[in-house]
Amino acid sequence: MLRSGLPAVWLTLVMVSASWDQPTPRLSFPLDDPGRPVSLFTLTDVSNSTTLLLSEDEDMLVVGARNAILFFNISLGGSLTLHSRLNWSPTEKDLNDCSMKGKSKADCPNFIRVLQELNSTHMYACGTFAFSPRCAYINSQQFSLVTGPNGKAEEGRGRCPYDPYQKNTAITVDGELYTSTVADYRGNRPVISRHLSEGRHVDLKLDDAPYLLEDPTFISSAFVRSEGKVYFFFSEIGREYDFIDKFTVSRIAQVCTSDVGGQRTLQRRWTTFTKAQLLCQASGELPYNVLQDVATLPPVEGASEDDTLFYGIFSSQWSVNSGRSAVCVFSLKDVKGVFGGNYKTLNRDTVKWTRRVQEKIASPGECGLHNASDNVLQFVKENFLAEESVMPVDRSLTLVSPDQHYTNIAAQRVRGAEGYNYTVLYLLTEGGYLHKTVLLEKGPHIVEEIQVFTQPQKVQNLLLSVSKAAVLIGTSQGVVSVPVSNCSYYESCSECVLARDAFCAWDPSRHICADVSSIKKKAAQDVEGGSVSEVCSTVRPRTHSSPSLPGQLVSVSLNTVVKLQCLTASRLAKRSWERPDGQLPPSIYLQNHDNSVLRFLATPTTLGSYRCQATENGFTQTLAVYEVREKGGVNLQLPATSLPQDNQPNNEGQRDTTRQVTPATTELKPKMEKPKPSSAPTDMPTVILHRNFAHKMGSDREAETEVEAGVVDQGRLSSTNRYVQELIVVSVLLVLCIIALLMMALYNFRLRHHHRTAPAMQQDAETPDGATASEREVLRTQSTYEDKCRGNESNKQDTGGKSSMTLSNGTLNGSMSHLPNMPI
Ligand SMILES: *[C@@H]1O[C@H](CO)[C@@H](O)[C@H](O)[C@H]1NC(C)=O
Ligand SMILES: *[C@@H]1O[C@H](CO)[C@@H](O)[C@H](O)[C@H]1NC(C)=O
Ligand SMILES: *[C@@H]1O[C@H](CO)[C@@H](O)[C@H](O)[C@H]1NC(C)=O
Ligand SMILES: *[C@@H]1O[C@H](CO)[C@@H](O)[C@H](O)[C@H]1NC(C)=O
Repeated sequence: MLRSGLPAVWLTLVMVSASWDQPTPRLSFPLDDPGRPVSLFTLTDVSNSTTLLLSEDEDMLVVGARNAILFFNISLGGSLTLHSRLNWSPTEKDLNDCSMKGKSKADCPNFIRVLQELNSTHMYACGTFAFSPRCAYINSQQFSLVTGPNGKAEEGRGRCPYDPYQKNTAITVDGELYTSTVADYRGNRPVISRHLSEGRHVDLKLDDAPYLLEDPTFISSAFVRSEGKVYFFFSEIGREYDFIDKFTVSRIAQVCTSDVGGQRTLQRRWTTFTKAQLLCQASGELPYNVLQDVATLPPVEGASEDDTLFYGIFSSQWSVNSGRSAVCVFSLKDVKGVFGGNYKTLNRDTVKWTRRVQEKIASPGECGLHNASDNVLQFVKENFLAEESVMPVDRSLTLVSPDQHYTNIAAQRVRGAEGYNYTVLYLLTEGGYLHKTVLLEKGPHIVEEIQVFTQPQKVQNLLLSVSKAAVLIGTSQGVVSVPVSNCSYYESCSECVLARDAFCAWDPSRHICADVSSIKKKAAQDVEGGSVSEVCSTVRPRTHSSPSLPGQLVSVSLNTVVKLQCLTASRLAKRSWERPDGQLPPSIYLQNHDNSVLRFLATPTTLGSYRCQATENGFTQTLAVYEVREKGGVNLQLPATSLPQDNQPNNEGQRDTTRQVTPATTELKPKMEKPKPSSAPTDMPTVILHRNFAHKMGSDREAETEVEAGVVDQGRLSSTNRYVQELIVVSVLLVLCIIALLMMALYNFRLRHHHRTAPAMQQDAETPDGATASEREVLRTQSTYEDKCRGNESNKQDTGGKSSMTLSNGTLNGSMSHLPNMPI
């Protein structure tokens, strides 16, 4: 019997070493689970449907695909019906030219990458068009391309990338198109520009001076009307950190929509372009420096625009954080503060950034500089990198996921039953799961994860339609839509409350879990606390009581292995087994890591009743009750009193699950029971847990009645086999653990050795284990950067203050400011 105790110990060891303080999705729905079905729209001849646009009224979804633009009507909950389709392909000649240039045939079609609504009658679209980007107006009443006077689409350079794998952004403000993309075939001329401007509002672009953008990856853009500014989000090489090659930083850049360029200096160029670092970093840790996506959350109605929030997903270029993601939130107020502050100065000879020492003659980033003097414009042209970084709200990370690589984000405010607003984030993982996360005071809570596609996607897009209550995802395979919630999945008050889904509350009058907005009075919800006993005790039980149900009978032969199962959908529930006498000595009982399976050898002492309970958020409910009896060939009727009396009537129309098991039967179905709060009030609502079982079992809901619950091994032979199997598993685990211990010991030894030979390293006591030398350097420099700059400043003032002045004057007279003022 000693044997059975060992694996439990090793399993807990493995579990402890692998467990993080990480948010775990409470429920997990595989693709096409009936509880959270997703609808996938595909056409056999359309793929790469990755660019998404919601019409202003959210009644129509426009999808940019390969050689086609699709128009869908959306109904509530996000079901899509194809309305029209518009084909837009390069000609044979274009395709031939493209392959002649050495491009893969697969990348030569017209991938639609810009889709914007211009006004009530027209949209604007651009595609890569065989590595020769084109743009065209679309008549949104007739769903047709409007080609120019000569029947040709417009040149799309500077609006759309050449390469379909290059990222770009586009946003329309008052009929003008603001884009960030690379503007050349090779993909090394990044540009932020404005197009479709009319009259005195001329098309603008970034000055051609170097260092304005450093090999950027454009992520997203946002317009804030109260500021009259368009913000661009991207990552790029952070040259201000000169200690390491290719240190990526995340940025926010801004331009004013009122900008019309300068009169001599900066003609047809932005006079308002500035950029700043977005820093997503916990103190003492390496920064999450690579921006993946940004979602803008407007302020609540009536609040100041300064409360606009930008939620960003970040990953890390450092090996210690590889595979992890972090979410940071930045406020418009902090962004404005940083852009309104001081700016760094670039020494163009040494390509080093320093704190500015010359006199401040203008405020970079300020709108309305078009009539400004050349001096002022020259100053703003030189000073475009804000000195401070934008720090996350409360200087802390919103969420860190140690094992998920998040790629896309959408954010929404949801009004809960108590009138509070909750922030809900939709995070799409690289592997194809959507994590619906509600941000609580205690930290993020992942309500559910829903599988939305099976193959990892290189290019994908995520949109949220608040009015249609649906999440829309564009992938290479098609368009997927998922309703934001399915409250009816939760069948009892306790499940409804434990879910902590801000959309859902228990309606005591209809006895259903329903959308908060549909509940007339006294909706039961506790998103923040998830406390069932507080919220559900006020809810009246559904029906009168009926006789108690006994446990489920398991007939066994002595000396065979008995396996009892206990299933729950909630990954946050802690399961535990108990016997009436309370004793489950590990020398006799073997439990797997999550206690979902209990194994033991049938002996006279182990016969009897077993109960599996689940505790979540302080609420305990019974998941399964078994009565293990010796196989006697006699039909047994279990006495209802064989278990501690908390078994409540099952009054939701389920069949009585007690079965008289004939000796040959080995399959039993789990017994469903109503839950019991730990502080058991007797008028608790009735609950059936069979939902919980269903999706574990796959998509077939009927399968639940066939669930194998108690397995009685047949005969000595198979049980010997099981012994051997378990022995092998134990041995393998043992070997793995020994290897792990050895490696840890080796690593420790190495570290100590290293420290002895390289004493300088010891300063970085707080560096996470496993950081490379350059990572340590980043850690150190990030925290001392400001000091370093200040130090530089004082040095300059003492000795070389003048030199930096003359240097910037030098560039003033240099060739840089006399580049031809050509629109792109
Ligand atoms: C919600 O869940 C229930 C129960 O699993 C299922 O029958 C229903 O179809 C689901 N509804 C939606 C809209 O997903
Ligand atoms: C919308 O824009 C198009 C293209 O610029 C223009 O031809 C059309 O007249 C505009 N429609 C309205 C209603 O302004
Ligand atoms: C800028 O100057 C032009 C003429 O020099 C004038 O017409 C225009 O109103 C001025 N704009 C502003 C905003 O002052
Ligand atoms: C287009 O879709 C195919 C799969 O259908 C995928 O392999 C390819 O990478 C996609 N191309 C782009 C540019 O997204």
